[in-house]
Amino acid sequence: MSTFSHIRGLGFHVPEKLYTNADLEKFVDTNDEWITTRTGIRQRHIVENETCLDLAHAASVKALAAAGMEAGELTHIIVATFTGDMPVPTTSCLLMERLGIRNRVAMDLSAACSGFVYALEVARALINLDPSSKILICGAEVLTSRVNWEDRSTCVLFGDGAGAAVLSAGQEGEPGRVIDTILSADGGPAMNLTIKGAGSAYPYKLGDTVGEENFVQMQGREIYKHAVRSMTAISNEILERNSFTTEDVDVLLPHQANLRIIEAVGKKLDVPREKVFVNVDMFGNTSAASIPIALADARESGFIKDGDLVLLATFGGGLTWGSSLIQF
Ligand code: ACO
Repeated sequence: MSTFSHIRGLGFHVPEKLYTNADLEKFVDTNDEWITTRTGIRQRHIVENETCLDLAHAASVKALAAAGMEAGELTHIIVATFTGDMPVPTTSCLLMERLGIRNRVAMDLSAACSGFVYALEVARALINLDPSSKILICGAEVLTSRVNWEDRSTCVLFGDGAGAAVLSAGQEGEPGRVIDTILSADGGPAMNLTIKGAGSAYPYKLGDTVGEENFVQMQGREIYKHAVRSMTAISNEILERNSFTTEDVDVLLPHQANLRIIEAVGKKLDVPREKVFVNVDMFGNTSAASIPIALADARESGFIKDGDLVLLATFGGGLTWGSSLIQF
């Protein structure tokens, strides 16, 4: 008999400081009309004194409280991020310490914006290996630490934040069941979305100045096409594999990168607009934090109701993408 993985609690946290499009107009050669019509983004939260760990910790504490669980019950901590506090130690080890626990499994997972859905599948596999596992997964990013404020084609897109979920084994009828996940990746078009600096292919020595390669660089049009194509295809694949149609889907929750991408995916999948969750207007693209922030937000606001079948679709650098079906 297979073991089922269930989401027991969700939580999210964003920094207090806000940059509206009007704020950006003051120091970036852009305007609200361009940003809103091209991306749907109206504002994004930006760290001031907080780090990735601070955001991850705040979201994790909320997820644990929502799950009715103590940190001490956790067996594994997985943080999906590429903007952790530092390359070594991992943010998951720092988070474990901040949560006041020791001697558990802790690892960071790097799959860019798809990181949380990748972590969801790793958690499901770990629960299958050992059904007594209690796993915290967190998507946390301080994307603005890797944003070049002189590149107007990327700097308007991103925000900071974290979202977390606690998973454990359960029975088929219990709420929050992760029914299935499909993941994929393709390194062919990888260089369309990069942060090269700090990688070993881009070594530096003391005294070097910080160049553009240390920040997000993106071929927006290419990424747009890949995102729409791959999120649509993998969503259709997971529905078919589980004998559902789009009519069975109560909520489509795509990666919150850009309203035009979200709407294009919804249209191609034939999911009515009112069933598509959107909060990119409030948070911008928070990368690996986007899906868990959206999930926690949609659950808190009542957009996702008890019993709803939720279809996740994600996409990110790598290129990576994936889809999950969750019954709340
Ligand atoms: N403000 C004003 N004008 C701008 C801005 C800006 N912020 N940025 C670019 N422009 C200008 C360009 O200079 C260009 O001007 P030109 O025609 O005089 O040369 C014009 O706007 C069009 O630029 P494009 O880059 O071709 O604009 P496009 O219509 O492709 O929109 C965008 C850009 C929004 C980035 C789009 O390509 C897109 O959504 N791509 C997907 C990107 C994305 O969401 N990636 C994240 C997914 S993966 C992940 O989450 C990491």
